[in-house]
Amino acid sequence: MNHLRVGLAGTGTVGGGVWRHLQSNFDVLCSRTGAEISITRVATRDPASVQRLGIPAAFVSDDWRALVDDPEIDLVVELIGGTTHAYELIKTALQKGKHVVTANKALLSKHGEELFALAAKQERQLLFEASVAGGIPIIKSLREGLIANRINALYGIINGTCNYILTNMAERGIDYAEALADAKAKGYAEADESLDVDGHDAAHKAAILAAIAYGFWIPEEHLFTEGIRNVTRLDIQYARKLGYEIKLLGIIKSDKSGAVEVRVHPTLVPQKHVLASVNGVFNAIFVQGDVVGDTLFYGRGAGADATASAVLGDIAEVALHLPTSRKCRSVGTEALYPKLKTIDEIVSRYYVRLNVVDQPGVLAKVASIFAAHNIGISSVIQPEGHAGDQVPLIIMVHDAPEKHFAAALAEIARLETIKDAPVRLRVEDFA
Ligand code: HSE
Repeated sequence: MNHLRVGLAGTGTVGGGVWRHLQSNFDVLCSRTGAEISITRVATRDPASVQRLGIPAAFVSDDWRALVDDPEIDLVVELIGGTTHAYELIKTALQKGKHVVTANKALLSKHGEELFALAAKQERQLLFEASVAGGIPIIKSLREGLIANRINALYGIINGTCNYILTNMAERGIDYAEALADAKAKGYAEADESLDVDGHDAAHKAAILAAIAYGFWIPEEHLFTEGIRNVTRLDIQYARKLGYEIKLLGIIKSDKSGAVEVRVHPTLVPQKHVLASVNGVFNAIFVQGDVVGDTLFYGRGAGADATASAVLGDIAEVALHLPTSRKCRSVGTEALYPKLKTIDEIVSRYYVRLNVVDQPGVLAKVASIFAAHNIGISSVIQPEGHAGDQVPLIIMVHDAPEKHFAAALAEIARLETIKDAPVRLRVEDFA
């Protein structure tokens, strides 16, 4: 039987899960891969976790270099996170001829191009299933099961914390601040909550999915990212009245000319679409392939067990191809669709909420500005108010180029009868 010796860097939530489940499912992994997989070294700065997990003290070092310096280790699992030590660790491990498994989406979205090129040069595997949507095997599905497809579109609920917050706001009718506090109390939000609620975590994952689907890496600064901080209970309620739920979506799609758009923002999703019923911390990715048609992947996007399942799957993948490892497949080097659209170039439907003074001619004026920009209105809601009061005016518009829509909205915002900055959210019809 082959023997795969693994060095584990990080014994936090995910690292602990990997340690525990490698023990609990050792027999399954042995019989399915034909290899004995064992963790023979662990790098961690958390002695309490070593005790808790029962890791033999002889395995443990507080320096990741102990893993890459050990000639016996075939594979390094990077679960320390961040983009400094983790970057050095992965680079050094590959340079020293070791395979690497990582869950680090921030690192891959920043340095993926370089690290995959290095892995290919070194003829070593760099696997990353746990970096997107935790336990859902979306990476393997795209790279293997759907390999024969051109990906027309990919829509992902890929941040469980935001989905939990938005679901809670919708179902309990609570404000964003209360829902965020609840997510924090339950330990869902990242230590730096901005990574979740400002959309960065979802953007890192979207960049990885786009690199697989369309063959090129998108620098973070070119990936349009808007988080959920400004989504209000009121907008969720009006969206529901109109037949929509609000979800933080990663949208990755190409048009007929082959130009690609990749963006992350709160989005109105029709209630009849399957993604609208993905609630709580769950993640889902809806993929439209040109051969397969529509497919849906659903599961837990975070947590020790779900993420360990993905990491162990990658470790098993390396074990399956021992002793001569399968050739490393690069990611993001095919440039299938090299043209990336800017946000101004996208076409979308929009939801708008205005705070207006209830007086004759306001609606007509707003409608005439949209019409002047060639934008059609598809529905309007205005709760009954008293003449002269401020009332919300909710408008849904048909497909419009973002640039035209933004110009129209800026003009509307300058009207004297419009109080407060207009709220606008994009709508996705999955056409
Ligand atoms: N913080 C992430 C989420 C989990 O809420 O989905 C790790 O990617």
